Amino acid sequence: MDEYEKGFFTEENSFEVVIARNDNAKDERMKQVMEVITRKLHEAVKEIEPTQQEWMQAITFLTRTGQLCNEWRQEFILLSDVLGVSMLVDAINNRKPTGASESTVLGPFHVANAPELPMGANICLDAKGEDMVIHGRILDTEGSPVANALLDVWQANDEGFYDVQQKGIQPDFNLRGVFRTGADGRYWFRAAKPRFYPIPSDGTVGKLLQTLGRHPYRPAHLHFILKADGFHTLTTHIFDPEDPYINSDAVFGVKESLLAEFKWVTDPSASEGLSFAGPFWDVEYNFVLASDRTDRT
Ligand code: BEZ
Ligand code: FE
Repeated sequence: MDEYEKGFFTEENSFEVVIARNDNAKDERMKQVMEVITRKLHEAVKEIEPTQQEWMQAITFLTRTGQLCNEWRQEFILLSDVLGVSMLVDAINNRKPTGASESTVLGPFHVANAPELPMGANICLDAKGEDMVIHGRILDTEGSPVANALLDVWQANDEGFYDVQQKGIQPDFNLRGVFRTGADGRYWFRAAKPRFYPIPSDGTVGKLLQTLGRHPYRPAHLHFILKADGFHTLTTHIFDPEDPYINSDAVFGVKESLLAEFKWVTDPSASEGLSFAGPFWDVEYNFVLASDRTDRT
């Protein structure tokens, strides 16, 4: 009988003793997951050699993180976000064929049932911020337009707040909307240029970032969910490459392919054509959807 099979625990055999207890696990996947997690956790503890006080500090951090979670706030997801785990799970589950647009995190501010609007609508309902027009095409990986695709967009305002964070200050559904493409796959709508903003930083995750010398900011972006029959749903953002936080997103959501060009347009006739009072931002971005058929790319 090997030492660990006796079930007696030592510093050296800690991992083997613990996972041997799971031999009769009723769920094979759970058994496999717990084997990996136990191995990595024991490796980490052996490498770090925490003091009892440090271990208690870690337990208190996790306890407090759980206590902060409620219907509106999910501090554990935020922890996963700032550790890069949300983006890693997203990447593993959204491997795309060549040419298809890349995904990124959903974030906590999506609202179901945003109004479906006609192409060209202005989703900025309070006339605040700098005018912006966003346009482009939704294509398949062969370059053909995707008709009847739904584009669900939401973004923060020019002060870095979503409507749901400023109830009674911003109108409901401000800077949100759903658009449906026609046969040409084209989309366009008007909005206000978003600004960078901090993720919630008044809890355990904010304190952790502070201790690690990290800021809590996300660079300016627009969120999108694109859905069309025959295609994988795409959850993504487009980012302003000139944003001061573009290379240090607190949740690691930025990918090179998601950088759009924000052009400042001063031509008065262009402003007039879009019913803008003056200069505006012009953003063009094409989305490429991946087929959900295994026999096609
Ligand atoms: C967001 O972009 O809305 C977001 C993503 C992750 C954490 C917090 C906010
Ligand atoms: Fe966001």
